[in-house]
Amino acid sequence: MNIPELEKPRILVLASGQGSNLQALITACRDRDFPGQIVAVGSNRPNAFALERAAQAGIETFSVDHTRYDTREEFDNVLRLEIERRSPDLVVLAGFMRILTPAFVRAFQGRMLNVHPSLLPKYQGLHTHQRALDAGDTVHGVSIHFVTEDLDGGPVVAQAEVAVNSDDDAESLAARVQEQEHILYPIVIRWFCEGRLQLTGDDRIEFDRTPLTEVLRLSTA
Ligand code: GAR
Repeated sequence: MNIPELEKPRILVLASGQGSNLQALITACRDRDFPGQIVAVGSNRPNAFALERAAQAGIETFSVDHTRYDTREEFDNVLRLEIERRSPDLVVLAGFMRILTPAFVRAFQGRMLNVHPSLLPKYQGLHTHQRALDAGDTVHGVSIHFVTEDLDGGPVVAQAEVAVNSDDDAESLAARVQEQEHILYPIVIRWFCEGRLQLTGDDRIEFDRTPLTEVLRLSTA
């Protein structure tokens, strides 16, 4: 089905770094059947490579440099205004490495997704690959979740698993997890844009109007 570009849900992406997940979404959006459009990409780092990728794809960019603000609240207020003036239907955190204040999260609750490199609830926070290796896990992976005030603790929509090899280090494991991120995140964003995904209350997800009782595990391998 061909949806006119202007009528597609508006996606705003926030990224702090390389932007490989952003790139995967840019590629997905090139398919005319993709039900969403990226209207802007923002960063807290003016030199983030993600902004360059967006500019190369002809997408509007903006940055709000967190080092210029004394408090998290001030930074979040400016970021929030920058987002709201672009009227997104969905905010996609793609390697956005800032802890967000509760007020900011509430403003976008139910329309903000994050990709986290672990099988949540395991390994919230940083250094997830090393922590999985240190724990001797044989399976690691990625989670896509709605963002709530509970950092990395919002309800999980979908996960993809990655087998841990005996000769893995954090870098090799991260690379394989990222391959799965690049497949899984655009799928979940597609569902959201199609209206198939809803956050009901603080922690319940509906998929196709049916409460999601188990995390969706996609076979992406
Ligand atoms: C991704 O691997 C993502 O899972 C991780 O940052 C990376 C960003 O890569 N996110 C987090 O750790 C969030 N807590 P990218 O800039 O190449 O998309």
